[in-house]
Amino acid sequence: MIGVLVSGTGTNLQALLARAGAIPTAAFELADYADRVDRDAAMAEWLLAYDVRLVVLAGYMHLLTPAFLDRFPNAVVNVHPSLLPQFPGAHAVEEQLEAGVSESGATVHLVDEGVDSGPVLAQERIAVRADDTPETLHQRIKEIEHRLLPRVVEELCAR
Ligand code: GRF
Repeated sequence: MIGVLVSGTGTNLQALLARAGAIPTAAFELADYADRVDRDAAMAEWLLAYDVRLVVLAGYMHLLTPAFLDRFPNAVVNVHPSLLPQFPGAHAVEEQLEAGVSESGATVHLVDEGVDSGPVLAQERIAVRADDTPETLHQRIKEIEHRLLPRVVEELCAR
């Protein structure tokens, strides 16, 4: 069983769902818990009850605490819109354009407690165009993500 955590619009989730059937879902609002540790523990318990062995962050915008990560050792992956370790963080696309980079891309990596800092599992590059805006660049990066993330998840599940 695979668990997927999402905060955003969920296009990467859609890419992962292409072949899936009925999906159990739950929302874990921070406001409903004493703190992040409590929320992360509840999320981990919920996923473990479904016998989840691999957790995929598909646009999940919070850092995970050890209350979560310790329950899934080396089994949480994230997709990020840059060539990590360059440009970690929530504003990677804008920052790459501001820095004037000629190449960008998408990275799938193992998650640790840091910001987009775990070991890289897969990466694919694209050229940045002179007329790119954050929207056009992010759109092309997402096209990569939607291929790369399901491929890596499939490989990890086959292990
Ligand atoms: C993706 O670009 C992903 O790399 C980043 O957040 C974005 C999520 O997009 N972590 P979506 O919600 O899957 O469309």
